[in-house]
Amino acid sequence: MSLQAQIDPNKLPQHLAVIMDGNGRWAKKQGLFRTIGHESGTKAVREIVEACAELNISYLTLYAFSTENWNRPRLEVETLMKLLVSSLKKEIKTLRDNNIKLNAIGNLDALPKKAKSELLDVIDKTKDHTHMTLTLALSYGSREELVKTIQEISHKVKNKLISPIEIDEATINNHLYTRDLPDVDLLIRTSGEQRISNFLLWQIAYAELYFTETLWPDYRKNHLFEAILNYQNRERRFGKTSEQLEQ
Ligand code: IPE
Ligand code: IPE
Ligand code: MG
Repeated sequence: MSLQAQIDPNKLPQHLAVIMDGNGRWAKKQGLFRTIGHESGTKAVREIVEACAELNISYLTLYAFSTENWNRPRLEVETLMKLLVSSLKKEIKTLRDNNIKLNAIGNLDALPKKAKSELLDVIDKTKDHTHMTLTLALSYGSREELVKTIQEISHKVKNKLISPIEIDEATINNHLYTRDLPDVDLLIRTSGEQRISNFLLWQIAYAELYFTETLWPDYRKNHLFEAILNYQNRERRFGKTSEQLEQ
């Protein structure tokens, strides 16, 4: 039986998040520039987006560029931003064909004008799509998101729109970039690194974590199916006991 056929459609993660890592090492291994690794990574993006749409996963969130990634060499940052624009232009068809709505989280004002406007254009063009929400984390940092959230809530307290005692988990959720997304169920990181790197700290509180050695440009549908099968064999207890879950 194929890996895909073994997946239980009733036990899918509703929200899958991926830290796409290893482009640079993939290129270096073959004596190529890091930027070639990023270009090759776009094929993996298309594969995984299509696979999630085929499986009927409702929310896919991809970590594409972190707040810390601005500290990379200028040329690499420029290439990544150009790649973003060309991918958006090229992949609008994939989004249409699969009825996928594009969304973005992060400090989008920090993006170059052209990248931001192309992004907003594709978000607008796909806003009525209903099969899956694809969220790109761009210039995203979880700590920055939490700082912004606290600032916004503090303003509301100051203006007496909300009292401190009323602030609860939902209040915080509603101020995050991810306010329209459910919590992450499964977080995958490629390339063998076992860390979170400032991604969705609040939102992964109860996510299952899956680390794989595969470098992102090599990541294909079967790798994803393996990760999902592994996820489906776990018991998510949310603090309860096994016995309670059986009842
Ligand atoms: C992930 O690959 C892409 C981004 C962070 C933009 P890397 O560029 O981090 O690749 P490695 O980790 O250096 O191999
Ligand atoms: C995390 O990867 C960010 C993205 C995948 C966009 P990095 O390669 O930047 O992470 P660190 O710095 O090695 O933790
Ligand atoms: Mg990396």
